[in-house]
Amino acid sequence: MSKILIIKNKVKKFSKQIQVSGDKSLSIRWVLLASQAIGRSKGYNLLMSEDVLAAINSIKKLGIKVKIQKNYCEIIGNGINGFKYKKNLTIDAKNSGTLGRLILGLLIKSPKKIKIIGDKSLSKRDFSRVTIPLRKFGVKFFYKTKNKLPLTILGTQSAEGIKYLENKGSAQCKSSIMLAALNASGTTSIKAKKSRNHSELLFKYLKIPIKVRKTRKFDFIDIKKPKKINAFNYQIPGDISSSAFFMVLTTLANDSKLLIKNVNINPSRMGVIIILKKMGAQITLKNQKNYRGEKISDILIKSSKKLKAINCPVELNSSAIDEFLVIFLIAAKAKGVSCFKDLSELNQKESPRLIWGSKILNMMSIKTDLTKDSIKIYGQPNLEIKRPITIKGYLKDHRVFMMSTIAALTLGGKWKIHDKDSINTSFPSFLKIIKDIDHSSL
Ligand code: S3P
Repeated sequence: MSKILIIKNKVKKFSKQIQVSGDKSLSIRWVLLASQAIGRSKGYNLLMSEDVLAAINSIKKLGIKVKIQKNYCEIIGNGINGFKYKKNLTIDAKNSGTLGRLILGLLIKSPKKIKIIGDKSLSKRDFSRVTIPLRKFGVKFFYKTKNKLPLTILGTQSAEGIKYLENKGSAQCKSSIMLAALNASGTTSIKAKKSRNHSELLFKYLKIPIKVRKTRKFDFIDIKKPKKINAFNYQIPGDISSSAFFMVLTTLANDSKLLIKNVNINPSRMGVIIILKKMGAQITLKNQKNYRGEKISDILIKSSKKLKAINCPVELNSSAIDEFLVIFLIAAKAKGVSCFKDLSELNQKESPRLIWGSKILNMMSIKTDLTKDSIKIYGQPNLEIKRPITIKGYLKDHRVFMMSTIAALTLGGKWKIHDKDSINTSFPSFLKIIKDIDHSSL
């Protein structure tokens, strides 16, 4: 199978209903927490992507039994820190920052050294953001290249709760320390800039002693070591980050309509919907319900003819952090100049995404002003790409691939998008869903 996706035609008018796959953040958290529970937990609608499979393989290597069945995944935990493994263990986090960072939190008591490795993209990313606070528990880290993978962790038998200020708005950093708190005596107190709160909701549901006090910018989280975690079944809702590509596809398509069923619209992930609506997208939430503290909804999107630029409020950055690339496409078609600030974290992702976003917009003849943490996008409401565009060398960043595909399907031009298999990290059924929407488009 060719690894290059060629797109020559725009998507035709459609009116469809789809379901996207399970939320990546919740899938990885379910795997890691089920590995700490006692007995059999079942995860339904678990995202079966490379990131989640890497999480499953990691806990298997740590001696946890996992059975993948047709409709669910079963994990048989041995309780908190119930890992059993031999000397010289290596865990491969592959492309997943979430896995690489969160699992370190679970390993603070490991009596033997464990090596964590990752793929080329993950090996370029910063790990000091979690190893610095984890060291405060008494854990030791050894790097080959400072702050980068591969690294080796050696745990401690006498971890005591720490105080930690998380000021990047990173849920990975916050969650890594929260998981470490499961093995620390006393209280671990975290002051965290707002970020996705799935770990907090799961801790509450699992009756892990946790207190959360919210202020406008920060959440104050206190965690005490639980006696045990009971096995738990969990139905993973659809991923809003995967849905975002289809929200933008529909907004930019002609005269179309799409209903996305059963998506997690946790307020700490809602940034994309708030931003797109401010820019003139027609998005309605239907059938809202609660599931174990998470909010779930169907999302109805209709095409929009009139899109307007945004001066994006920085408070929304963390709740839309994985969606900016595709939001930039709306800015490219909007009337006026859009401005996105304080986004240095975007360059810390699977690829330097602020740079890549700007690069792709420029290839599409959209003018941008780029700094190290901001971008201005000069929208062209009548944008019609005529030229050939080739996208390659982007460190196989799944979201760069999907953004490019949506641009090709809505804005014209002849696109060659390399490394098709990059979607396997987060959304293996992405292209199949596009074919279901319009079988002639790909
Ligand atoms: C994630 C947190 C975010 C996000 C990533 C998933 C998580 O990363 O970009 O895709 O599941 O905690 P940061 O914590 O680095 O912002």
